[in-house]
Amino acid sequence: LPPNFQMEGSSVLKRADCRAKGGAPGFKVAILGAAGGIGQPLAMLMKMNPLVSVLHLYDVVNTPGVTADISHMDTGAVVRGFLGQPQLENALTGMDLVIIPAGVPRKPGMTRDDLFNINAGIVRTLCEGIAKSCPKAIVNLISNPVNSTVPIAAEVFKKAGTYDPKRLLGVTMLDVVRANTFVAEVLGLDPREVDVPVVGGHAGVTILPLLSQVKPPCSFTPEETEYLTKRIQDGGTEVVQAKAGIGSATLSMAYAAVKFADACLRGLRGDAGVVECSFVASEVTELPFFATKVRLGRNGAEEIFQLGPLNEYERIGLEKAKKELEASIQKGVSFIRK
Ligand code: NAD
Ligand code: LMR
Repeated sequence: LPPNFQMEGSSVLKRADCRAKGGAPGFKVAILGAAGGIGQPLAMLMKMNPLVSVLHLYDVVNTPGVTADISHMDTGAVVRGFLGQPQLENALTGMDLVIIPAGVPRKPGMTRDDLFNINAGIVRTLCEGIAKSCPKAIVNLISNPVNSTVPIAAEVFKKAGTYDPKRLLGVTMLDVVRANTFVAEVLGLDPREVDVPVVGGHAGVTILPLLSQVKPPCSFTPEETEYLTKRIQDGGTEVVQAKAGIGSATLSMAYAAVKFADACLRGLRGDAGVVECSFVASEVTELPFFATKVRLGRNGAEEIFQLGPLNEYERIGLEKAKKELEASIQKGVSFIRK
């Protein structure tokens, strides 16, 4: 195994540990599923993030290679690899932020819910590890179906007595990234100038872009509204079909995951005014979980923003979203309570 796997007695790691302890400011981040399609580019981008001092890469396969490769990058974060369930505890101990892209992706013709049977168990196992080894960490959950895996994680943490709703965040950032891109295309703007709130959840009609609240303020024809809403809701399927059996979005997802993780780390650092959309425990609707804008702080999602004024099109969309979300949330909860 490469040096970054030798937990004890390696001079390389001793120096790295000194560097990490020596006060290089930053946070300890673990990626679970680090050898996957999302995990690898996500690991690379997190290794480039100056807010990260220690980066733990965990997977059930292939982490020696990914770790050796990433650890040669001359950026600040100290990288360590972990392989298989027996090393999960070491991978998680002391972590401030845990990002979870572990699990199987869709193939053409599948819904995200079709992944439930495999991914629910994976998320349960990983969250049991978090409850045991780093119960205070912020968790960014990417594994699909997010609308069910976040409730699963919440139930696992409740069972373990470690649940803090502010610290469990379902990652819906890719919907926002897509919405910004597609809206910018229609408006003829640079996507970096555009901010589209996307609320609800992360699957089909539960993805609800609030085009009436786009910044900078603008208006859309009914045809543009229909086109944009559908394209944002079907963005994942567009990639699944184009990849034709190889998998789903990985590169744009890694970008979105790092954008969201960086916001969480800035919140942990105490930066003011860090606001992003996320699928969290919520009282904004009658459902126990819902994605809206949240303010990220030292304790995670410290403030959950209301939906704001919706137009008629969005009100109808909201009702459809809630119906599907309710069933997906219940399915996740029952998986643990049954
Ligand atoms: P992938 O198959 O390329 O990678 C998944 C990785 O998870 C693999 O390396 C695999 O070994 C690992 N893994 C499996 N079981 C594990 C376990 N018990 N512990 C640790 N690691 C384990 O898949 P991918 O393309 O990287 O997608 C991963 C997940 O992310 C899928 O469920 C996909 O649907 C989801 N996803 C979510 C979003 C989102 O917006 N939230 C976007 C894209 C993909
Ligand atoms: C996405 O939105 O790209 C992901 O949820 C993956 C998928 O299955 O569509």
